Amino acid sequence: MAESTKSAKLTIDGKEYDLPIYSPTAGPDVLDIRKLYAQAGVFTYDPGFTSTASCDSTITFIDGGAGELLHRGYPIDQLAGKSHYLEVCYLLLYGELPSPAQLEDFESRVTNHTMLHEQMMNFFRGFRRDAHPMAVMVGVVGAMSAFYHDSTDITDPWQREVASIRLIAKMPTIAANAYKYTIGQPFIYPRNDLDYASNFLRMCFAVPAEDYQVNPILSRAMDRIFTLHADHEQNASTSTVRLASSSGANPFACIAAGIACLWGPAHGGANQACLEMLNEIGTVDRIPEFIARAKDKDDPFRLMGFGHRVYKNFDPRAKVMKESADEVLELLGVDNNPILQVAKELEAAALADPYFADKKLFPNVDFYSGIILEAMGFPTSMFTPIFAVARTVGWISQWKEQISDPQLKIGRPRQLYLGETARDYSDIENR
Ligand code: SDX
Repeated sequence: MAESTKSAKLTIDGKEYDLPIYSPTAGPDVLDIRKLYAQAGVFTYDPGFTSTASCDSTITFIDGGAGELLHRGYPIDQLAGKSHYLEVCYLLLYGELPSPAQLEDFESRVTNHTMLHEQMMNFFRGFRRDAHPMAVMVGVVGAMSAFYHDSTDITDPWQREVASIRLIAKMPTIAANAYKYTIGQPFIYPRNDLDYASNFLRMCFAVPAEDYQVNPILSRAMDRIFTLHADHEQNASTSTVRLASSSGANPFACIAAGIACLWGPAHGGANQACLEMLNEIGTVDRIPEFIARAKDKDDPFRLMGFGHRVYKNFDPRAKVMKESADEVLELLGVDNNPILQVAKELEAAALADPYFADKKLFPNVDFYSGIILEAMGFPTSMFTPIFAVARTVGWISQWKEQISDPQLKIGRPRQLYLGETARDYSDIENR
C-alpha cells in the first residue's frame, strides 16, 4: 500500500475531518475515505464509479488523457509489435517478462491443459443451436467448478495457480466448441503442436473431412487481437470478477461472472454491436444520418466502438488495431472492403464533428476489431467470446492480485436511499 504523504481536510457541519492522500507511482492521487462513515456518519456518492479507486494494483496503468496503456510498465504498442499473447499472459500473471526457459515452461503448461474433461462436452449439447456463444461460455465456464474440484480452494496458492492455467488454456477450446455447436459442426480437439492463436483458429475452422492449414497471417492477427484485449485496469468485467472473488467464490464462478458482464453492448459486446452498426450504415453516404442520430439526445443510438470512460484521447489499442485491419485485409486480398471504408469515413466524420471532439469521443478497441474478425471468417456472435478468451488472463491476474491480499474485505457498497421511511402494514381489506 502506498504511504500517505499529505491529507485533505473535509468540513461537515462545522466539524473538520482529515482524509489521508496517497500518491501512486503514476496517475492521480487517491483520497482515502475508508474511515469517513465511521468518523462523520456520511457516505460518498459515485454511481458508475467515475471518481472512485476500488483497489490498489500493480498490473495495468492507463493514462486516458495521454492515450497510454502499460502492462507492468510496458507500453501496449511495444507488446503488440514485439511480444506475443502467451508472453503477455506471463507478464500479467507474474509481473516480469519471462526468460526463455520460463516462457517455454509456461507455454508448455498452457498447451497441455487446453483439452476439456470429455464429460464437459455434454454441456454444449444442452443448449439450443441458436444460443448466443456468450450464453454458452457463461454456462460452461461456471460449470468448470463442477469438474475441477482440485483447483477451487482459493486459500491454496498451488490451486490458484492450477486454476489460472486451466482457465487460460481452456477458454479457447470452450469458445471454439460454442461456435462449432451453433453451426452444427463437430468439435475439433486442440493440438499440442500449435501455438495458442493457431490452435484456436484450427478448432474454429477445421473440419474432420479435410486437413486445415493455419494461415500465418491470420494466426499473427489473432494473436495480436488477443494481446490487445488482455487486460485493462478496473473495467466493468474486471471489477465484477474482483467483487465476486471478494466473497471467496471459486475462480471459475468469478470468471463466469466476468464473462456475463463483458457481454453487454456498452462493454465487450460493443465489437459485435459496432460491426452490426457499420453494416446497418452500409454505405458512406448514410454516415451523416447516423452521426446525427448519435448526437440526438432523444435518440438512444450511440456510435458503437466510440467513446470510453477513461480514454479522452485515442485508445492506443484502436491505433494498433487500425493498422492491423489495413494489413490483414490487404494480405487477405479483401481490398476496398466497403465496411472498412465506411468505418474510416465514419471515424473521420465523427472526429471532425464538434460534438465528438468536445466530448473527447474517440474510436476505442472495439471499433476496428470486428472488421478484422469478420475478414478472418468469424460471425459477429463470436466477437465478444473472442474478447472473453483474451481477457481471461487479465481477470485472472487481477483475481490473483486481490485474493492474495491478506487485508481483503468483501466488497459491500452502500446507497443513497430515497425510498419510503418505516410504515405499518395495512390489511388487504383496508386498501
Ligand atoms: C470497452 O472500461 C474499459 O476499460 C472497457 C474496455 C476494456 O478493455 O475493458 O476498454 C472495453 O468496453 C470499450 C467501450 C466499448 N463500448 C462502446 O463502444 C459503446 C459506445 N460507447 C459508450 O456507450 C460510452 O462511450 C462508454 C460506455 C464506453 C463510456 O460511457 P461513460 O464514460 O459513462 O460516458 P457517458 O455515457 O457519460 O457519455 C458522456 C457523454 C454523454 O453525453 P452527455 O450526456 O454528457 O451530453 O458522451 C456521450 C454521452 O451521450 N457519448 C456518446 C457516446 N459515448 C458517450 N455519444 C454518442 N456515441 C457514443 N458512443
